Amino acid sequence: MSRRISRRRLLAGAAGVVGVAGLGGLAAGQLPGLLVPGQPGRQLTSRLPLPPPFQVPLPVPPVLSPVRSDGGTDYYEITQQVSRLAVLPGHSTPMWTYGGTFPGPTIVSRSGRRTVVRHRNELPQPTVVHLHGGHTPHDSDGYPTDLLLPVGTTDYPPASTAGMPADPLADIVTGERAYTFPFEQRAATLWYHDHRMGFTGAGVYQGLAGFHLVREDEEQALPLPGGDRDIPLMITDRAFAADGSLLYPALDPRMAHSPGVTAAYANGVTGDVILVNGAPWPVLEAAPVRYRLRILNASNSRNYRLALDPPPPGGGGLVQIGSDGGLLTAPIDHDHLDVVPAQRFDVVVDLARYRPGATVDLVNQLGTGPTAQVMRIQLGAGTRDEATVPARLAVVEPLDPSRAAVTRSFLFQNSGATEGWTINGNPFDPSRADATPRLDDTEIWRFVTDLAHPIHLHLTHFQVLSRNGAEPGPYDQGWKDTVELRPAEAVEIITRFTGYPGRYVFHCHNLEHEDMAMMANLVVT
Ligand code: C2O
Ligand code: CU
Ligand code: CU
Repeated sequence: MSRRISRRRLLAGAAGVVGVAGLGGLAAGQLPGLLVPGQPGRQLTSRLPLPPPFQVPLPVPPVLSPVRSDGGTDYYEITQQVSRLAVLPGHSTPMWTYGGTFPGPTIVSRSGRRTVVRHRNELPQPTVVHLHGGHTPHDSDGYPTDLLLPVGTTDYPPASTAGMPADPLADIVTGERAYTFPFEQRAATLWYHDHRMGFTGAGVYQGLAGFHLVREDEEQALPLPGGDRDIPLMITDRAFAADGSLLYPALDPRMAHSPGVTAAYANGVTGDVILVNGAPWPVLEAAPVRYRLRILNASNSRNYRLALDPPPPGGGGLVQIGSDGGLLTAPIDHDHLDVVPAQRFDVVVDLARYRPGATVDLVNQLGTGPTAQVMRIQLGAGTRDEATVPARLAVVEPLDPSRAAVTRSFLFQNSGATEGWTINGNPFDPSRADATPRLDDTEIWRFVTDLAHPIHLHLTHFQVLSRNGAEPGPYDQGWKDTVELRPAEAVEIITRFTGYPGRYVFHCHNLEHEDMAMMANLVVT
């Protein structure tokens, strides 16, 4: 398929966007199969009976052991492979996995200590590994064209990969690639995922996502919940075919040539099954004590408004201690948390605020029917709790706007007529430098949008300065790498480009928007 044809399909998707925006006040029920309130995308309907919720225990992804360590470095190995996983009871789902599980294994690194992860691609298509939230040299950051071709590939590139401009700088290797992470950065909840140009949505949906935690001594000295009371929660949505395989409206079901999804799903793909750590609506058996939950929205395009049901007496049940880039200065009590794709919210829930034996659900207030449920916490008998949440967590120096060398503006929009999802009117082109900050410069970036877009920068974390000219919102605190833009909003962020020069990207993390070119180059010089 030629680039022009795929653009034409995008155009059809764009017409859909305009139509929906014009419908304004209609309830979702009046628009079957169209949009869901609070969601940019269109929901797929599974073609098998959905399992009843709260039947399976919450899995916790295995922590990967290094294959070896030396003075300053830990070495890991991961094989990317197709595996059949028991995602839904009684069904087997072929998935693309890191090491045979979904989520992939969790890697735990220490701040200041180098980690090298060697990936081997035994999947049917090229991949790219990106460590989201990593302060990473550009050659290990997973630039979208730095492909890792499947083991044994001899005939790359394939005859045509439609809709994607060629990249003369692409660093393409076959079989294996070692990614090196210096981890000159704070403790934080990071995640790694596929980032192949034009196919990130499909790759992540097929299962290519895992946690990578960075720890440091100062954080571990705090009396926060630890051990098996420090639990990463990867929240995703999926839809299933009758045979248990995943439904995804890829333009090319083989994920070989034409990138992106069919026009009807150009706004984003959502599913009707909510998975936490790869299990549908699971149950966590917990003691009535404090737990640290590292919430990650790894869904392609679904937004969540997470809340505890029932709320604990007095409310404020979700005590946020960290954001994308690590600990906040002080905890923030939330009744609910708005989490857009790729964001992490580190929260402590004090289950002692409930009676022993109580049932507490984590619900999604933006969902309806099955997507309104996320998981259940089933409390057992009381036990001692040594953990607390200190009033001061960490030092977060506010960046000073008067130090900014430059203010850049980026408009995120659907440029319907010709280009589809664009930034400043342009679809992604690896050869065009869209922002060229100098190393160590502080900059203000102003994001303006038509529709909802979660905007993510590689290389650097940032602070939100303002939202629509007013104070940042309740979910904008601390160091972030992904910020929610709601329809017709303007958000200003401030950041410093430290550490590593080179070519990176920034993009919308609605993965269908990203694949359909809502991405731009960030070239640090
Ligand atoms: Cu989570 Cu550019 O990625
Ligand atoms: Cu990233
Ligand atoms: Cu977007």
